[in-house]
Amino acid sequence: MRWNKKKILEVDRRHIWHPFTQMKDYEDRDPPVIVRARGLKLETIEGQILYDTISSWWTNIHGHLHPALNEALRKQLELLDHVNFSGFTHPYATEVVEKLRTFLPTSLSRFFFSDNGSTAVEVALKMAFQFWQNQGCSKKVRFVCLENAYHGDTIGAVSVGGVDLFFKLYKPLTFKTFRAPSPYCFRCEERRGFTLSAEHGCSLRCLKGLEKILSRHGEEICAVIVEPRLQAAGGMLVYPAEYLRNLRSLCDKYGALLIFDEVATGFGRTGTMFAMEQAGVVPDIICLAKGLTGGYLPLALTVTTERVYQAFYADYLEGKTFYHGHSFTANPLGCAVAAASLKVFIEEKPLEKTKKAREFFHRRLEEIFSEEDYVGDIRYLGYVGALELVADRKINRPFPPEARLGFQIYMHSLEEGLVLRPLGDVIYWFLPLCITEEDIEEILTRSRTVIRRIVEKIR
Ligand SMILES: Cc1ncc(COP(=O)(O)O)c(C=O)c1O
Repeated sequence: MRWNKKKILEVDRRHIWHPFTQMKDYEDRDPPVIVRARGLKLETIEGQILYDTISSWWTNIHGHLHPALNEALRKQLELLDHVNFSGFTHPYATEVVEKLRTFLPTSLSRFFFSDNGSTAVEVALKMAFQFWQNQGCSKKVRFVCLENAYHGDTIGAVSVGGVDLFFKLYKPLTFKTFRAPSPYCFRCEERRGFTLSAEHGCSLRCLKGLEKILSRHGEEICAVIVEPRLQAAGGMLVYPAEYLRNLRSLCDKYGALLIFDEVATGFGRTGTMFAMEQAGVVPDIICLAKGLTGGYLPLALTVTTERVYQAFYADYLEGKTFYHGHSFTANPLGCAVAAASLKVFIEEKPLEKTKKAREFFHRRLEEIFSEEDYVGDIRYLGYVGALELVADRKINRPFPPEARLGFQIYMHSLEEGLVLRPLGDVIYWFLPLCITEEDIEEILTRSRTVIRRIVEKIR
């Protein structure tokens, strides 16, 4: 196939509105035109190779165009493209459920399909709310969420979000929630050194605010929602597993459901199949998307317990039906790739295979960056690593926002063959499970070159 770069960019500039993008930033610069991908590399129309260091917005798991996933999709195209999922079922959905059950705690046994992470969260919120309503607990209508939380961009998901950049403007459209402090170890008074994987032990003072909310307003609260172990879009904030164990006890004590949003952390990204395993905690509802199809197609799941399911199971006229669904619920193409991706987990065992590479990643992050004077914090968990950049390390003063440090690093990283998309002044890597030590070394050393250059320019 022959592409015409000029024409693509012309149409793009004239007609396309990109997500999370101030389009004026592209007035005098072109976005890279990506035409191919393989493994953890993207290729532009000019043949430039970029390391996909953020796994295509945290979706890609086994690398791009994995032969087994390609084959599954090809086969599915001979069978069934799509069919509505209310009143019908298909073997492609049941295969996903069967395979996924081998990785999930047995109590998470009821699966509700949808098609993206925000929607998986919307489903969880409505489900938790209606769970109590169906049992006559009409007062239980409020959620507890965390500062720095991100659960998606639909209005329900924004309502339980805690990143002001994505929340503040839309506040008048949202429903009221209780927002508890974030387990942000870097900004904690008990902090000793870098956060790393947050296993240093502490008094969990950050949980006190949440406990206060539950103890004062327990009778109004239907559920607490958190991203387990890693507040991702909030700045790749890694926090202790102990926090989740205590949170589970608090939810039980005050009669609130516990929702884990594993949209970003699921499917091996944090070093275990699901981040919740690191705490040995089972929530009442879990949200899955992004990596569910290995990063190929939009598919999502909200998985819950028999207890929650049974609160909806009744004669039709009792009015307990869960009224939710989307056109592309359980799309068979997505299901086929999801089943193939889970089969790769079962047969190829990527988490075991790349354990050494993960450890190498963590070690090299510390070795390469701990002496850099612009690094305030180093955090890592599994295949995720992050640096919080600061202007003055002694007092951890951030860079002025008008410097747009993260954005400048991103633009420059593309020239160096990387995709260092920032979260404010947090630079992070969200690597696929097929990563090698060689790639890690190349990515981290190139990253240091880019970051140093931009920090020097700004200072
Ligand atoms: C934890 C978490 N939940 C939900 C979402 C929303 O997912 P989607 O972008 O597929 O709607 C995201 C997206 O980044 C996320 O990180």
